[in-house]
Amino acid sequence: MKGSVLVLILMVCMLVPITGFAEKVGGGDITFSPKNASPVVFSHEKHVSEKGLKCTGCHYQIFQMQQGSYKMDMSKINKGDFCGKCHNGQKSFDVKDSKNCGKCHR
Ligand code: HEC
Ligand code: HEC
Ligand code: HEC
Repeated sequence: MKGSVLVLILMVCMLVPITGFAEKVGGGDITFSPKNASPVVFSHEKHVSEKGLKCTGCHYQIFQMQQGSYKMDMSKINKGDFCGKCHNGQKSFDVKDSKNCGKCHR
């Protein structure tokens, strides 16, 4: 009896950090809600786990580690700032191509 309770406590202690970590990668999903366009979802999971990008690839050269730390708009992004550093048709799909608006704006 005592032994199995101990095993149970041990299992819980081990599971908490594992599941807590698996919940979200980096800052999780970040939703931006611009005034004149549909919301933009940025997925840390997709960028970090699937595409293998490093935290330091974005933090702190392009983005701070806090949502809303910069005022972004399409003219800056089209010029190659923020998301446009990579979404320029070279590292990833081009923000200026009207076929791609819906990949970010949902
Ligand atoms: C492809 C770019 C990119 C990569 C790689 C990236 N992040 Fe982020 N991260 C962002 C963006 C964009 C924001 C939002 C910044 C803003 O709104 O000003 C953000 C915000 C955050 C936030 C704040 C979330 C909040 O709710 O305010 C944390 C924490 C964070 N990132 C951690 C990480 C960690 C840890 C890693 C590496 C595992 C990582 N990020 C990798 C782009 C990235
Ligand atoms: C450091 C480079 C980098 C930055 C900065 C970056 N991305 Fe990406 N992003 C990528 C790469 C690489 C891919 C994978 C592209 C591919 O497979 O063609 C990707 C894929 C995506 C996808 C498609 C994945 C999906 O959800 O199916 C979306 C949407 C996206 N990025 C949105 C954003 C937004 C919004 C920002 C700015 C807040 C941003 N990205 C900033 C590199 C970047
Ligand atoms: C790589 C992702 C991405 C792509 C592709 C993209 N956008 Fe955006 N867009 C953003 C982000 C991020 C913001 C700023 C969100 C915020 O901070 O409020 C934004 C903001 C906007 C805004 C409101 C601010 C402004 O500049 O007026 C409009 C309108 C807009 N986008 C239109 C478009 C159109 C049209 C396209 C296709 C030609 C497009 N976007 C493609 C990520 C993207």
